Amino acid sequence: MANARVTVHPEARIDRIEPEVHGHFSEHLGRCVYDGLYTDDTAGEDGFRTDVLELLSDLDIPVLRWPGGCFADDYHWEDGVGPQEDRPRRRNLFWAQGRDDVPEESNAFGTDEFLQFCERVGTKPYLAANVGSGDPQEAADWMEYCGYDGDTELADRRRENGHEEPYEVPFWGVGNENWGCGGQMSPEQYAREYRRFATYMGSMDNLMLDYDVDLIACGFEGHEWNRRFLEEVASGRWGVDFPLDHITLHHYYGRAMTVSESDEDDYDELLVEALEMEEHIERIASAVDAAASTRDIGVIIDEWGTWHPEAVPENGLEQPGTVLDALSAAAVLDIFNHNADVMTMSNIAQTVNVLQCLVETDGDDAWARPTYRVFDLYAPHKANEAVTTTVDAPTRDVERKDDDLPLVGASASVSEDGETYVTVTNLDCREGHSVEVEVDGGVTADDVADAQVLFEGQDAGLHVDADNADEFVAEDLDVDVADGVLTVDLDASTVAAIT
Ligand code: AHR
Repeated sequence: MANARVTVHPEARIDRIEPEVHGHFSEHLGRCVYDGLYTDDTAGEDGFRTDVLELLSDLDIPVLRWPGGCFADDYHWEDGVGPQEDRPRRRNLFWAQGRDDVPEESNAFGTDEFLQFCERVGTKPYLAANVGSGDPQEAADWMEYCGYDGDTELADRRRENGHEEPYEVPFWGVGNENWGCGGQMSPEQYAREYRRFATYMGSMDNLMLDYDVDLIACGFEGHEWNRRFLEEVASGRWGVDFPLDHITLHHYYGRAMTVSESDEDDYDELLVEALEMEEHIERIASAVDAAASTRDIGVIIDEWGTWHPEAVPENGLEQPGTVLDALSAAAVLDIFNHNADVMTMSNIAQTVNVLQCLVETDGDDAWARPTYRVFDLYAPHKANEAVTTTVDAPTRDVERKDDDLPLVGASASVSEDGETYVTVTNLDCREGHSVEVEVDGGVTADDVADAQVLFEGQDAGLHVDADNADEFVAEDLDVDVADGVLTVDLDASTVAAIT
């Protein structure tokens, strides 16, 4: 007997799921860039790790944000261009934090390395400019170095450094967490800085580049900060028509849950925190609605994912990768689908080795974590039209959060060819659930083209390492069809996808 029901309305379109919503973030932090994307030991061509490059290319990642994070607001891009042997060694103020155990920044991986890495992976770059300790000229110069095709000193410098053609960098962040590590600014103060930076960065976009650039402002968790920021931005001479294409916030969860000592109550708590993403999106979208009556400003979540107590600056924010983390990613990707009308991008933190990375490395080994498998399973949603999907499922009271955890989650989308793609997650880490999936108009067994499931028979707390990484791949899922309705039996903590 099914105890949960997912109802999909293919005609009730929400909006296109921007492929960038499945985006990524890499910061100069711990082993994300050095050892992760790049190695000084030249394991791969030109120092790139070809194993990681292949894993990311296979996933067809749509966008990669760099160089931070907090690193960005103490990073000066000119340190990282030109002959590597001439680049200065620095200590990044935020991530070095004056400790001896944090390596200095060699600047071996700089703008050209990052942009060429993106070219090889086939992903769009998203650069975060330094607002906290930088100035608008530095940001505009960076744009010119990367993207100008004319005959200026900066464009020529890029050519001398080996890239004749301009790089296309469609996304530029105006700082990072400027309410915190990026300068401890009030919303009004950041708004004034934003206007100053965007005046020059917007002019670069309009006058000097042959492609369109989107400028991204930093927001905060909560309606009020974002409302005050947007109001102050709009109080300038250009009003709301100011160059501001997206606003972003960060949402991490799981800080109370030490992976090695956790139990099922902790899992429930983490999942409730992950689901708070919905409220963050609603709050920031309502601030945008209130401020931007004449134009669209997209919502970006450019850092998100689990952050467990194991991940501390001393170990470069590394933590074990688990099925539970992957489950939370599925729940969040479903929320992004439900909010496709406002979401323009997201960037899970961080691509390799750091926090909820998708890929982990150890010496010459590189492997996919369970979260990678979820992104892979969800990939067919990219560029589809999200459609209204309702879930009627049992809930569990999570006392510590004073909230209920819905035990089943789902989302659905329709491709250009009219194919419906439904993802269903059993967020219950204790028990299996039988889920009916009803699609308006009904379905027959012949309509089911494919059905797959992740993590069947695996415990939510199971860690991935080099030896067991292959055990997390998707398997075929049995689907029963009767009276026009599909039924799937989902083990505890599993993620399914039905085409
Ligand atoms: O991803 C790690 C850090 O978390 C980033 O540097 C910062 O933006 C956020 O607080």
